[in-house]
Amino acid sequence: MSDEVVDEVIQKVAEAAPHISSGLMHRREYVGEENPSDEKMMEADVWANEFFKEKITSIDGVGEFASEEEHEITDCGEGLSVAIDPLDGSSNIPTNNLVGTIVCIYDERLPCSGENLVAAFYILYGPLTTVTVAREGQVNEYVIEESPGDDVDLYMASEDIRIEGKNIYGLGGNKAWFDDVEDLESELADDLKLRYGGALVGDFNQMLHHGGVFGYPAKEGYENGKYRILFEGNPMAFIAEAAGGASTNGERSILEVEVDDIHQRTPFYAGQKELVQRVEEHL
Ligand code: F6P
Ligand code: MN
Repeated sequence: MSDEVVDEVIQKVAEAAPHISSGLMHRREYVGEENPSDEKMMEADVWANEFFKEKITSIDGVGEFASEEEHEITDCGEGLSVAIDPLDGSSNIPTNNLVGTIVCIYDERLPCSGENLVAAFYILYGPLTTVTVAREGQVNEYVIEESPGDDVDLYMASEDIRIEGKNIYGLGGNKAWFDDVEDLESELADDLKLRYGGALVGDFNQMLHHGGVFGYPAKEGYENGKYRILFEGNPMAFIAEAAGGASTNGERSILEVEVDDIHQRTPFYAGQKELVQRVEEHL
C-alpha cells in the first residue's frame, strides 16, 4: 500500500512539473510577505505551494502535508506524511538560474527524524526538467516529458547513481566569518574544483553527478545553519546516503538528528563518504 502511495506522490508531482516551470514567467514579483523562516516570498512560491498542496493532499494514503511555506501541518487523513519545499532556490528566479522542488515522504507523524523517510526526490527545472528519486537504497534520475493531456512520460536518464568521485565542492554562506570553515574551504580547494549556483537542488545535483561535497555551514546569523531539516536537509541527506555517499551536520548523519520543530534548521554537508568524513574532522 505505502509503495503505491509513494508512486502516486512522485507521479502527481512529476505531472505538475511542466506546468510549474512554464508558470514561473509571470510570477516573479515579491508578495511583501515572509515565510515561517523569515524569507521573502515570491508570487511563484505562494502559487507553487498551493498547486502542489492541492495535488498531494488529495492522494489517498497521505495523512499529513507540511510545507516550507506554511506555519502549520495540514492533516489530510490516514497515512504517510509528505514534506515539500515547493520552489527551492526561488531567489534564483529573477536571474533565471536553477530552481527546483524537493519532496520527501515520512512513515511517521511530523515533525520526526530523517530515519523515518521512505523516499525523497527533487525536480530540477533546468535545460531539461528532471526528477531524481531515492527509494529502497537506489537513486535514479528521469527526464520528464509532457505527453498529450495532463500526462507525462518519465525516461530513465541515469540509473543507480553513485557518489564516488572527488571532483567538485561548494559551500554556501560567508566563510570568512568562521575560522573553521575558512580552513575547510582552503583544504577542499587544494584538491577539488569550486562550483556554487545558489540553489540547493542545483548544487546538490551537480555534486551527485560529478562526485564531491556540498554544504551550507552554520554561520553568523544562522548558528543552526540555513537549511530546514524536514524539507531540505533530510531529503538531500537521504538521497546522498542512498547513492552510497554520506551526510553530516558536523557531528552525525543529518538523518539521525532529532527534529522537534517543523521549521528547524541544520548545518548541512553531503557527498562522497571520505570527503564528508574530512568535513567532520575539521569542524
Ligand atoms: O532554500 C534556501 C536556499 O535558497 C537554497 O536553495 C540555497 O542553497 C541557499 O538558500 C542559497 O543561499 P545564499 O543566497 O546564501 O547563497
Ligand atoms: Mn529551499
